Amino acid sequence: MKVLVIGGGAREHALCRSLSLDPDVTALHCAPGNAGIAEVAELHGVNALDGTAVAELAADLAADLVVVGPEAPLVAGVADAVRDRGIPVFGPSAEAAQLEGSKAFAKDVMAAAAVPTARSYVCTTPEEIDEALDAFGSPYVVKDDGLAAGKGVVVTEDVEAARAHALACERVVIEEFLDGPEVSLFAVTDGETVVPLQPAQDFKRALDGDEGPNTGGMGAYSPLPWADPQLVDEVMATVLQPTVDELRRRGTPFSGLLYAGLAITSRGVRVIEFNARFGDPETQVVLARLQTPLGGLLTAAATGNLAALPPLRWHDDAAVTVVIASHNYPDTPRTGDPVEGLAEVAEKDAPDAYVLHAGTKADGSGAVLSAGGRVLSVTAVGADLTTARRRAYRAVDRIRLDGSQHRTDIAAKVADEAAQAPGA
Ligand code: AMP
Ligand code: GLY
Repeated sequence: MKVLVIGGGAREHALCRSLSLDPDVTALHCAPGNAGIAEVAELHGVNALDGTAVAELAADLAADLVVVGPEAPLVAGVADAVRDRGIPVFGPSAEAAQLEGSKAFAKDVMAAAAVPTARSYVCTTPEEIDEALDAFGSPYVVKDDGLAAGKGVVVTEDVEAARAHALACERVVIEEFLDGPEVSLFAVTDGETVVPLQPAQDFKRALDGDEGPNTGGMGAYSPLPWADPQLVDEVMATVLQPTVDELRRRGTPFSGLLYAGLAITSRGVRVIEFNARFGDPETQVVLARLQTPLGGLLTAAATGNLAALPPLRWHDDAAVTVVIASHNYPDTPRTGDPVEGLAEVAEKDAPDAYVLHAGTKADGSGAVLSAGGRVLSVTAVGADLTTARRRAYRAVDRIRLDGSQHRTDIAAKVADEAAQAPGA
């Protein structure tokens, strides 16, 4: 099978890596890709947001499957353009991707499907904003309605900061604060059948100890030893299946990857947000543990055949991923710095630890340069989280990128707790 992946981040590198390990995948292409993806896929300089150009490329390549990675092309209708050419595509329509593209739309779907989430108001005027802030009180949660690459949400105890962010948004969702740990649960769906993957947890703040600004994600781990073993079944029954059923009922079936960002609160599981695509960096750890060949799974979703798919198989291993970001991320990241030490990781740490590229580009002479905020993620597997962590950080230490930053505490607390648990 010939597969074309759209996008060029660490998530797409993780997808390409897993697809390249699927014996049924005979050719792998990616647009636009990055320096790391170039090692496993043929790259094409096509604009990921241009549906016509992507559909054209897929037809030229005689692709059997197109996988759309990021949210922006999905919201722009790239999956629709490919589907209209009769080519199977993994990724929802523009209409269904509104589940991520509009927080207000997501709230409406959740209300209709009785999915548990934070109580919220959609506001467009200063009066509505003040009323909503008053109604919920501190800590304030203020969300830009539209896509904002993880930067549209402000959680603060400062009412003036909350009001300022709300006024800067055209349409804003103000909601109840949810306490408790967060979990990311992904499900693959063809619009009817829903197949959950294994839960993961990501670290959204820039600095150790969950300090600093929100980012796209600085690291992740899976499995979650502390989570209730019933969690996946519960989220399937209360969140994932009802949401997929509601979108089908509306005539806009969701096929692709449904990402539930959850808070495990004292009053039960609540949805923080939906995304319409694989999460980054959680994908890196979830796919590291998936044993079922990825090409077959995504094809089954793209062609409406998930019900016939045998149950997924998983490695017993734990996985940890650590993101290396450029100087000044997430504000105005510096780019164009050389990344060194990649060959050393490949030589000394593979296959237990490996680098997935995010914002990188080849400079033409064999060197790799930073080209974005999140530059790389190092993923490692091991018999337990402690081992996976140690391997991940050993590889991180080999990588040299001037001014770069990474968190040193990814999965630290959970690994210690798991190591001290009875029976560990
Ligand atoms: P979102 O883009 O909706 O995932 O929000 C980004 C981050 O803001 C989440 O991962 C949470 O850490 C935080 N957040 C969002 N909504 C809430 C909420 N209702 N209560 C507490 N924290 C929230
Ligand atoms: N890791 C959060 C996201 O992908 O949105």
